[in-house]
Amino acid sequence: MSTADSRPWWRDAVIYQVYPRSFADGNGDGIGDLAGVRAKLDHLAGLGVDAVWFSPWYPSPMADAGYDVADYRDIDPVFGTLAEAEELIAQAHALGIRVIIDVVPNHCSAAHPWFRAALAGGPERDLFWFRPGRGPGGDLPPTDWVSNFGGPTWTRTSNPDGTPGDWYLHLFAPEQPDFNWDHPRVRAEFEEILRFWLDRGVDGIRIDSAALLIKDPLLADVEAAARNPYTDLDGVHEIYRSWRRIADGYPGERILIGEVWLPDQRRFANYLRPDELHTAFNFDFLCCPWEPARLRQVIDETVRAHALVGAPATWVLSNHDVTRPVTRYGREESSFSFADKREGVPTDLELGGARARAAALLCLALPGSAYVYQGEELGLWEVEDIPYELRQDPMWHRSGHVDPGRDGCRVPLPWSGVEPPFGFSPPGATATPWLPQPADWKDRTVQAQRGDPHSMLELYRSALRIRHSEPALGDGGLRWLPAGDRVLAFARDPETTGAVVACVVNLSDRSVPLPAYDTRLLSSGPLDGELLPPDTAVWLHIQPAERR
Ligand code: NOJ
Repeated sequence: MSTADSRPWWRDAVIYQVYPRSFADGNGDGIGDLAGVRAKLDHLAGLGVDAVWFSPWYPSPMADAGYDVADYRDIDPVFGTLAEAEELIAQAHALGIRVIIDVVPNHCSAAHPWFRAALAGGPERDLFWFRPGRGPGGDLPPTDWVSNFGGPTWTRTSNPDGTPGDWYLHLFAPEQPDFNWDHPRVRAEFEEILRFWLDRGVDGIRIDSAALLIKDPLLADVEAAARNPYTDLDGVHEIYRSWRRIADGYPGERILIGEVWLPDQRRFANYLRPDELHTAFNFDFLCCPWEPARLRQVIDETVRAHALVGAPATWVLSNHDVTRPVTRYGREESSFSFADKREGVPTDLELGGARARAAALLCLALPGSAYVYQGEELGLWEVEDIPYELRQDPMWHRSGHVDPGRDGCRVPLPWSGVEPPFGFSPPGATATPWLPQPADWKDRTVQAQRGDPHSMLELYRSALRIRHSEPALGDGGLRWLPAGDRVLAFARDPETTGAVVACVVNLSDRSVPLPAYDTRLLSSGPLDGELLPPDTAVWLHIQPAERR
């Protein structure tokens, strides 16, 4: 944590992601809601997180679990009311927790009033991408683009007389029509939406699909286009500059976070100019296998690219879209890729669990801000045996059941008790949780882990407590320490006062000696005397460089 008080809070922040459907169910309908979150805020305060990011909570037909927004200024009744959201924001603030909401500007829901009016032939058509088809009778989609959820990015509409009409663009599901960001009305609308929530006290915005907003007006085929026709086009920077001006007009350092999937750290950091986004999600790190050379390369590239633009890096192990680390790290091939989620490929959950613990200490020791996706602090694994008929994710359905979808990391959290719903729903609930919880989660509940010094929950709590009390951790720089080939060891030097903190992660298959140290602060697993066992991380106080 930075000692320089003048530094904005977000340079150091540990941000906890709440996926509202699966966090806690207050009204007993088997679906998480705001009443559930409010009842469990003490868990987050006890964990020691700085901010909470809520995945979308707006009115939505839930074709993509709320990332299909029908009204950006309200709360879906399944989650509660706008008044409850306001109370939740106030309650979180009273506990010292900041609130970040998810805004989805690339697309809305097909149920959004603008899209309905567009389908009815109104001038709202210009707010979306309607185009005639190609080929005889316009039967072919306007471009060859492939949707992120499989299938074409275009769906054909019908004319009022029932004949086939134009096609509309959706980079995701057909229920998520893309906005035309070249239209001033779209820009003005989102600026108002931003103000609406900033006025209600939210401390930041996570921007969904942040790099996708601008499309190449030529709508060229991907094959023919000289550049990607819908990612990372220059026009998007102008949008974030105007959003930044709005956010900066509010007191308290409100943050704009971009969800930017770009494989190149420099292009990625290009969004983090001083007058644009403050931070963005580090997907390179999240996708990285449990492999020392690859991890070190991603860390170096991340730190270098962020230093050039003066933005803090972010460190992310998972979110609501990706395979949980406990499962991923227990596999022989431990990287994450949407193209191949490896569902059903054997995994060693014990090994994955040990590595996820070590990865948590790695993440929380690296310079910048860090994310914790709900359930990560409980060591939950990916639920890979959800019966097919219960799966809800459009990725599963639209891929023709080739892609397992993302339901496995969205299973409702276990809070207490020894059988489902594990306190997710209140006693006397009328429905079972919207996705089934594994019976084996009885050892993973908050109740089972609280107070157990060996539990994942207590590891996270200790790590966050230490992170807050050590000036060297959080924002700042990193200095690699000499270590074996398969060991990551780095020092964090405090900028002014405070001790030097070292983090050592052993990714080899044998125990390695610890560097010279003054105090052992925390380890992810038991040490072997003065040796650090495989797949274990440790935090140490060490002497400053010049005195060693
Ligand atoms: C990224 C979100 O994280 C994901 O859950 C969603 O499906 C897509 N954007 C589309 O909004």
